[in-house]
Amino acid sequence: MDEEVDISGDDGNHPSDNSPKGARMSGRVIIFDTTLRDGEQSAGTSLTPQEKLAIARQLDKLGVDVIEAGFPISSQGDFHAVQLIASELRRPFICGLAHCRPAAIDRAWEAISGAEHPRIHVFLSASDIQLAHMLKKSRQEALEMAREMVARAKGYTEDVEFSPMDATRAEPAFLFQLLETAIDAGATTVNIADTVGYSTPNEFGDLIAAVMTRVSNISRACVSVHCHDDLGMAVANSLEAVRRGARQIECTVNGIGERAGNAALEEVVMALKTRHDIFGFSTGVDTTRIYKTSRVVSDLSGFMVQPNKAIVGGNAFRHQSGIHQDGMVKEASTYEIMDPRSVGIPASSLVLGKLSGKHAFRERLAELGFSLEEEALGHAFRAFKELADKKREISDRDLESLVSEELRSKTEVYRLDHVDVSCGDHSLHSAAVRLIGPNGEVLSDAALGTGPVDAMYKVINRIVGIPNTLVEFSINANTEGMDAIGEVLIRIESDGVMYTGRGAATDIVVASAKAYMNALNRLILSKQASGEMQLPEDWSKKPGVQEAA
Ligand code: KIV
Ligand code: ZN
Repeated sequence: MDEEVDISGDDGNHPSDNSPKGARMSGRVIIFDTTLRDGEQSAGTSLTPQEKLAIARQLDKLGVDVIEAGFPISSQGDFHAVQLIASELRRPFICGLAHCRPAAIDRAWEAISGAEHPRIHVFLSASDIQLAHMLKKSRQEALEMAREMVARAKGYTEDVEFSPMDATRAEPAFLFQLLETAIDAGATTVNIADTVGYSTPNEFGDLIAAVMTRVSNISRACVSVHCHDDLGMAVANSLEAVRRGARQIECTVNGIGERAGNAALEEVVMALKTRHDIFGFSTGVDTTRIYKTSRVVSDLSGFMVQPNKAIVGGNAFRHQSGIHQDGMVKEASTYEIMDPRSVGIPASSLVLGKLSGKHAFRERLAELGFSLEEEALGHAFRAFKELADKKREISDRDLESLVSEELRSKTEVYRLDHVDVSCGDHSLHSAAVRLIGPNGEVLSDAALGTGPVDAMYKVINRIVGIPNTLVEFSINANTEGMDAIGEVLIRIESDGVMYTGRGAATDIVVASAKAYMNALNRLILSKQASGEMQLPEDWSKKPGVQEAA
């Protein structure tokens, strides 16, 4: 069975109309972003509500149709983040996830009720494996739960999505019955989830085609897909699903998500655009904002993008071999299927250095998508001048590091003011550290350690006094050359939760200290959001950074 979908209607960008009819008629695939929910579920991420809001703002500018902002019943912090996003962003649909329990649905509604376009996303296991081992429910009981909980969500909002979890391993006849039940109860979107990333493009496409023909009331719902990448087929499966009738794709920026992650938004969107001849659908995404969005998510989540990652990896548009370079010089289309500018990778026309002034600095930042308030621009410019004294040429990656540092400084409860270490192969390793605390108080101390970083972390822990364990530490150079900025990424664990920290400096010891402070500050802000910790009211009076409109 390989039915082609009738591709009707124009393919221009439309305002968000996520109704089944709107989705079918517009020639447009709905992009449902779950970076803040499934992406945030990845081991090692833990974003504060403010960081989630920053990502949501960027997703809004990117033009995604639906933002799944979180799973409100899962924690106080998640609830707060979803509420914040729902109250601020007016254009996109804001979705809150809920499992099939009355309290979860009520909590999801409580979090998203302030949204202009609220959506409740109800999910329930559909495979026998999950029903038996996780829920200990029969198929009949599952049908009842789906009916009741979708109806409960419908009592709150018109827009309800239902996901049969592990749909690709469910018995198809039962899956169709479950979908029919959910649609009868009021679901306006049904989302076929390849939860464990088990399916292949052919098989998944056939399943979607079967859903389109075997679910009697399917014309009343928009068909969505949610694919995980355990076998590296999430994007291929999602695209094949579109060819066979799906009109919504769930995806995440940089493909982050549970285990091997989800279908990568940037790959899905650019495949639909570049191979419009095959798929015949467009999206509402402004592709020139993809690169910037990828950087924001990588920066805040702490997940580096691998160099060979499609679309947004550092090497994605670099041509190394002589033959390729020769072709590129003669005619870019010899080896380039996409223009890097179409995904927002800035053309490196201007190299900044020691003699560059504030005007050129501001201009280049704007080209990279950043606009800083005057005070923050002053800070970043001073840091740029200090860096230019050490490096001959300042690359775009250096500038991004400077801005990231400035962004991180906005959420500093404790600020690193000074660090001094001594080290060597026969000496004692010691560190002296001075921090500025939440009330502006100066806090200093010194310690010995097995190495300079160990000594420094001991001092910082003694001052801040929050128990935690360092579980990951890595250093990367952001560009080639001895004078590159060192970027340190660390993860610490406290009370079973993982917090990421990043820091950048030409001195890797300073970068290590900054990364540790960043992780600790995020830990403190998370505890504040969940009500476990109190902070003085005006701790955050710092200059701000805004992304360019
Ligand atoms: O992978 C999955 O099944 C999910 C559901 C909640 C849609 O994330
Ligand atoms: Zn998932």
